Amino acid sequence: PESMSFYDAVGGSEAFERLVHRFYQGVAEDPLLRPLYPEEDLTGAEERLRMFLIQYWGGPNTYGQRRGHPRLRMRHAPFVIGEAERDAWLRHMKDAVESLELPEDLEAKLWNYLVYAAQSLLNA
Ligand code: HEM
Repeated sequence: PESMSFYDAVGGSEAFERLVHRFYQGVAEDPLLRPLYPEEDLTGAEERLRMFLIQYWGGPNTYGQRRGHPRLRMRHAPFVIGEAERDAWLRHMKDAVESLELPEDLEAKLWNYLVYAAQSLLNA
């Protein structure tokens, strides 16, 4: 139905768990991106991105309850994000998005958002 959120349309939290888990498997092996992540263990970063995306797409607002306003540009300011970092981030995300095997319209919607969001976080 018209009122269904994207979160509902992709089947809820499981799709986001798979997306973000696959993404961070790529980041863990990436020599450009991995050093940007301050924590030894990527579990916390994985959880924050998962909660954020779930909230953004109409699922539970756990992210906001725990972290407050996302302020993503400010929260990325400590990390140098140039075109190479953006491209690497999007490359792992593309692989993760495709692994979900979503219907074409939903995949395009998710991917277009991620490209736009990554572009907006360039700071170098
Ligand atoms: C946090 C890198 C794009 C959402 C982080 C962190 C790094 C990082 C190093 C800190 C990890 C941590 O939470 O411990 C990057 C790079 C990007 C990128 C290199 C390339 C453009 C994005 C995009 C989104 C996003 C496009 C949203 C669609 C987040 C969120 C957090 C985060 C929600 C946690 C914020 C918090 O502290 O609550 N990112 N990021 N990032 N990133 Fe990104």
